[in-house]
Amino acid sequence: MNCMSSSIIVLLLLGLYGSAAARRDPTEDHLRLPSEASRFFDRVSGVDDDDDDDDDTSGTKWAILIAGSSGYWNYRHQADICHAYQILKKDGLKDENIIVFMYDDIALNEENPNPGVIINRPYGSDVYKGVPKDYTGEDVTVGNFFAVILGNRTALTGGSGKVVDSGPNDHIFIYYSDHGGPGVLGMPTNPYIYADDLIKVLKKKHASGTYKSLVFYLEACESGSIFEGLLPKGLNIYATTASNAEESSWGTYCPGEDDGPPPEYETCLGDLYSVAWMEDSDIRNPRTETLQQQYELVKSRTATGNSAYGSHVMQYGDTNLNSNHLSLYIGTNDNNTYVNENSLRPSTKAINQRDADLVHFWDKFRKAPEGSPRKVEAQKHFVEAMSHRVHIDDSVKLIGKLLFGIEKGPMVLNIVRPVGQPLVDDWGCLKTLVRTFETHCGSLSQYGMKHMRAFANICNAGIQKEQMDEASAQACFSIPSWPWSSLHKGFSA
Ligand SMILES: *[C@@H]1O[C@H](CO)[C@@H](O)[C@H](O)[C@H]1NC(C)=O
Ligand SMILES: *[C@@H]1O[C@H](CO)[C@@H](O)[C@H](O)[C@H]1NC(C)=O
Repeated sequence: MNCMSSSIIVLLLLGLYGSAAARRDPTEDHLRLPSEASRFFDRVSGVDDDDDDDDDTSGTKWAILIAGSSGYWNYRHQADICHAYQILKKDGLKDENIIVFMYDDIALNEENPNPGVIINRPYGSDVYKGVPKDYTGEDVTVGNFFAVILGNRTALTGGSGKVVDSGPNDHIFIYYSDHGGPGVLGMPTNPYIYADDLIKVLKKKHASGTYKSLVFYLEACESGSIFEGLLPKGLNIYATTASNAEESSWGTYCPGEDDGPPPEYETCLGDLYSVAWMEDSDIRNPRTETLQQQYELVKSRTATGNSAYGSHVMQYGDTNLNSNHLSLYIGTNDNNTYVNENSLRPSTKAINQRDADLVHFWDKFRKAPEGSPRKVEAQKHFVEAMSHRVHIDDSVKLIGKLLFGIEKGPMVLNIVRPVGQPLVDDWGCLKTLVRTFETHCGSLSQYGMKHMRAFANICNAGIQKEQMDEASAQACFSIPSWPWSSLHKGFSA
């Protein structure tokens, strides 16, 4: 591996940057504009819609902030979460009502040029200061996340013990930022969050009668698939997502961009959808801005003028809740100076969420002195990340061909169900097939989540575990030795 010349890496990287443009190829079918604009604005009767809803003096405001990743190349997700904490804090939420999940390996990471400090925009202020360390490291688990939502202390393992101990008049804000894939959200520990489990937890929370309304902001690739066809109306839940069900979300303030980070950072500082809502909330008056207004603003900034860099911000659930003011969820503080007008900032360039790790390894490689151990290390990481991608992509493709034939295979794996339908009918099957694949081919890791639709389609086609087992064994002779494939953390499902 060490003899791999940098010119080959350049070629790989060119392929990488080219992929954004390729995504706009009209013959490629997997990025679709939402077919009906009216879908965004539908109003549904039967949901509590009285004016009291917007009375931000009644009920307690709760927030759960969760970064699903670890690793310096994922700096931006924890930076997003810390930034969100500063907004809630500034707007008057109390620490006892804000529950933070973050791996917490960034501030003191040896790669961090400003130890103890995390920023979420170039030359921005420290967003790490004061952030409560409720659930960090190996305590950032899906079990703890669900227990915190449900307010179930006995279900917790580790952490501060803080949960959303909410009552019927309370309002809950949940914000998540990380990698994802169709029907799945990443975690720094295994297993990942599956959409069906999350929706079950939200329904259970609703059934317990312990909130008045809940707002979910979600940044991840294919994040629309978490709610698409799955989140019913009537739960008093309003969700917006960084992307629709079939496209990437985007990192921003990345090395190589005009508004990239100071050169010593070598990593993306934020995510496009996330900084869009937060830079708006930094300055705009939450007492006069509605969720709908913020949604429109974030949607327009995240689409980055319909360039190849950007995604379609979506909204799901009880969309009539979006007439509520932001202050109902993020608070407001009379001591703050706010602006009232639209604070849309110019679009920024962006890096596909899934390529941001490569950008980090590449930037590190490029800047490290010739012949230094740092250069060798960066090259190794870059090559491993690329090799893992090729291994996962090829294995999934081959399994499709083994199961459905050379011609039909790729077609079956790429089927996208119509808008409004969930990804898969049998989530148990999906999880079983993921485990079966990983048993033979190694961990999917953050990149591999992109193939979740292929596994879902294999289930939808009626394939059973035994057939998947056989095909996976044929496709993968052994589990590669690089860290991305290691199963030491367990299966991702
Ligand atoms: C809380 O979690 C425990 C342990 O998982 C479980 O046995 C119990 O039923 C849960 N309580 C509620 C109210 O859901
Ligand atoms: C507003 O400022 C005053 C005076 O500094 C302070 O006493 C008060 O706690 C502040 N209020 C809030 C909600 O931060």
